[in-house]
Amino acid sequence: MSDVDFGPLQHLIGVWKGDKGIDIAPIPGSSEDTPYFETISIVAVGDVTNAKKQTLVVVKYHQVVSNKSDGAVFHDQIGYWTFDPETGVLTQSVNIPRAVGLLAGGNVSDKNGRVEFSVKAIDGDKDWGVVQSPFMRDNARTVSFEHKVVVEGNVMTYEETTVLDIYGKTFDHTDQNTLIRS
Ligand code: HEM
Repeated sequence: MSDVDFGPLQHLIGVWKGDKGIDIAPIPGSSEDTPYFETISIVAVGDVTNAKKQTLVVVKYHQVVSNKSDGAVFHDQIGYWTFDPETGVLTQSVNIPRAVGLLAGGNVSDKNGRVEFSVKAIDGDKDWGVVQSPFMRDNARTVSFEHKVVVEGNVMTYEETTVLDIYGKTFDHTDQNTLIRS
């Protein structure tokens, strides 16, 4: 496993911490911007071969996000990033404890040490879709998810937009932060 070349995913591996997070979530009757701090731990998995044809390199992550006001964890997320060196296809799987999961697809660019990962999923898309419980589909549906992560050395910034269909309207649930690799 130690001889696996993780390609651009190598830049993600590490323990990242940041306390400049801003969450905008659909919380009726409360202030819309919530500052947060978080740790994202990303570790090497190795490579996998699919259908004897495709070989992906894989890292996995665990993201734990806490509300600055009281320190309580208010978002927990796990998943994998995969990269196919032959095609350049990047994926991120997202699982959150609301009975919602998704597989977002996209690509990665590396220009002068600025590595940019971009992925997107849309509910109902035949390639990169969303899976959610019937309750969430009917009451708080994830319509789409878009995520951009930029790594420059030991600094990671990200922006993500999760479009929700909730409380009878469409809501852009957004998150952004800057993290440092420890
Ligand atoms: C840093 C990342 C994120 C943070 C801090 C965050 C935080 C929150 C918060 C505070 C709420 C309001 C509901 C509550 O009181 O718990 C919420 C709602 C929701 N979030 Fe997130 N979220 C994040 C990412 C995501 C992602 C990636 C998804 C889906 C892929 C997602 C899906 C949802 C859904 C479906 C709801 C509506 C549930 C409800 O309010 O009934 N969130 N989120």
